[in-house]
Amino acid sequence: MSGRFITFEGGEGAGKSTQIDRLARRLEARGIAVVTTREPGGSDRAERIRGALLRGGAKSLGHLAEALLFSAARLDHLDSKIRPALADGAFVLSDRFADSTRAYQGLDGSLEPGLIASLERVVVGATKPDLTFILDVPAELGLSRAAARREAKAEGVDRFEAEDIAFHERLRQAFLAIGRKEPERCLLIDAREHADAVEERIWAAVEARFAADLPAEEPVRKAHAG
Ligand code: TYD
Repeated sequence: MSGRFITFEGGEGAGKSTQIDRLARRLEARGIAVVTTREPGGSDRAERIRGALLRGGAKSLGHLAEALLFSAARLDHLDSKIRPALADGAFVLSDRFADSTRAYQGLDGSLEPGLIASLERVVVGATKPDLTFILDVPAELGLSRAAARREAKAEGVDRFEAEDIAFHERLRQAFLAIGRKEPERCLLIDAREHADAVEERIWAAVEARFAADLPAEEPVRKAHAG
């Protein structure tokens, strides 16, 4: 039995984690086993690498070293969490995956696209996402949402949030380009809308794409009078 692998991508403050929680609840309500996870991280060893990366500990090592560390975290995440869950037949929902390496580490040609593609082939292998939602918001809106979230949690900016707005706007374009390049796998979602509207669009896409995997909804019982 093989599950389904759905990834959520986009810039900062696009609302990925909210939408993952909502999709997980809707799938579970249909009797589907769901595993939610995130990158970098998702497994004990990968979470340790995450800590170093987001504190900026690897920035001075350069783009290649950062890409290798994201990839090392992904290797462990795939082996210890994603592949076992898929083998159990679960739907795996991941907050970011390999497209983030393409977009962030490949930004402005800082690493050769061929190198990133090779790394992805070696690390991801056949475990490609069945469906990827690219949540799109203008950089300014995304950054202001991310700032509000940080304030609520009393957190500081991380390695990538600290980059300027031009970086984040180029990042947005990089994700849009990935969506255009792989339209079969990627679905672009306008994430400026209210979270409820975004949730409905995502659910409609999941129902359409995985109709054969979703058990039919319980029919609503009609009350018979008399
Ligand atoms: P996170 O706090 O999860 O950010 P967000 O809520 O925006 O998803 O931090 C993850 C950061 O790591 C984010 O800035 C994107 C970056 N990243 C990469 O640069 N490359 C990668 O391969 C991945 C998975 C994430």
